[in-house]
Amino acid sequence: MDTNPLRDTFRMHRVPGPCAVVIFGGLGDLAGRKLVPALYNLYLRRLLPAGFAMVGVGRRDATDTEYRAEMRERCARFSRTPVTDAEWEGFEELLHWVGGTFDATETYTTLARRLEEIGVARGTAGNVMFYLSVPPSQFPVIVDGLGDSGLAREEPGRFRRAVIEKPFGHDLPSSAALDAEVHRAFKESQVFRIDHYLGKETVQNILVFRFANGIFEPVWNRNFIDHVQITVSESIGVEGRGKFYEEAGALRDIVQNHMLQVLSFVAMEPPSSFDAEAVRDERGKALASCRPLLPSDVVRGQYSAGFSDGDAAKGYRNEDGVAPGSDVETYIAARLMIDNWRWADTPFYLRTGKRLPKRVTEVAIQFKRVPHLPFSYAAAEQLEPNVLVLRIQPNEGISLRFGAKVPSERVQIRTVNMDFQYDTAFSAAPAEAYETLLLDAMRGDGTNFPRQDAVNQSWRIVEPLQESWTRLGGGPHLYEAGSWGPEAADELLARDRRRWRRP
Ligand code: BG6
Repeated sequence: MDTNPLRDTFRMHRVPGPCAVVIFGGLGDLAGRKLVPALYNLYLRRLLPAGFAMVGVGRRDATDTEYRAEMRERCARFSRTPVTDAEWEGFEELLHWVGGTFDATETYTTLARRLEEIGVARGTAGNVMFYLSVPPSQFPVIVDGLGDSGLAREEPGRFRRAVIEKPFGHDLPSSAALDAEVHRAFKESQVFRIDHYLGKETVQNILVFRFANGIFEPVWNRNFIDHVQITVSESIGVEGRGKFYEEAGALRDIVQNHMLQVLSFVAMEPPSSFDAEAVRDERGKALASCRPLLPSDVVRGQYSAGFSDGDAAKGYRNEDGVAPGSDVETYIAARLMIDNWRWADTPFYLRTGKRLPKRVTEVAIQFKRVPHLPFSYAAAEQLEPNVLVLRIQPNEGISLRFGAKVPSERVQIRTVNMDFQYDTAFSAAPAEAYETLLLDAMRGDGTNFPRQDAVNQSWRIVEPLQESWTRLGGGPHLYEAGSWGPEAADELLARDRRRWRRP
């Protein structure tokens, strides 16, 4: 019996050429939770090349067999499809481990030797993709190690690539410094910066929705749109990542990357083609038109104790790894303006937070009201403005809200929804973002990876906040875990006579 639930889905994907994927931090949280499960699912979908191997690198002294056993456990917990004995047996053969510290020359010598051996055994043709799944502080030493050992060097017919996880620096200067560091060993064409939101089907669909349909683009501008709301709401807290989060906060963890990237898809001009550079040029231009965020247009919040998903939840300051008096924000609401012809005077309201009532990411485009309503006030009392909602996750889909006549002998208008849902329209479940992005990087397709100019632009946009918060201090507003954030966020929109949606 065929135990592979994914065999027939996504047939249209092109299988990449042979290669080895090396994951620095191969036993880390991201590798076990996302990367190896993504490779396992690609294996199930028969999208890994015939010549393929994965090598984990990290401090631990372990054998291939021990590494495989540990990855099986993680995949059993985190893979979107169950792990079966039959499939795992074939997959685990592809996994290997190299133990060593990132600053030791010996680590790279051993890695080079193992890549040679594995390359011959598995037929990876000398192509290698290095995935830096490590804290940013470790990037320079690994890049140097790869550069000095010659592992980063491309030769005709043999690629070498570096995939770098966010955050790319912690502000504009450090991002530029990191970029210079990476370029000591890799050319720009070899570098793939990962922002996993760009691998989400629903984010990619924003472009198809806008540019493959004739009816939306003519109204996609300041003449018809009143404002846009982008929400990334999470019900989880910091989930044992307190130490990391203390340095990131919601601004660096979500706003500077995921949210501004999504915004660039909504705000960009139509590209001349779907070529990687053409698309990235337009996304970069959209970000370049964004006005920097001023503290007066931003509300910071931090969750205090409350209830989340029915359970008591502790406050942020009591989370492991968090300073008792921490002023780090777990919530941000912001009003962002874009200075160009399409969007002048049309606010983009951004909102993200941890320990909010539910997990939902959406883009809501609110249209202007009609200039004149030829109905009585009583008839149209319940009529709300048209809203187009792009539901990124969960319940992936798109809905359009409009007014309809309530069936009766008199005119009574009520707002109704027209709804498209991915799971009913398409039989295949969308792939995990990391599956899509790993595959793209193996193929060398950079369309869904932010270029350094976009990264710099997004640091520029958040720069005044970072400066002002460091200089002036002043803590975030507290909000109860399980609530929709601080009241000050409602006041931010009330100033403009608008209010947040309740997704
Ligand atoms: C990560 C952040 O980049 O994205 C996490 O570091 C956050 O804090 C996560 O929870 C959200 O991703 P997703 O795909 O679950 O929306």
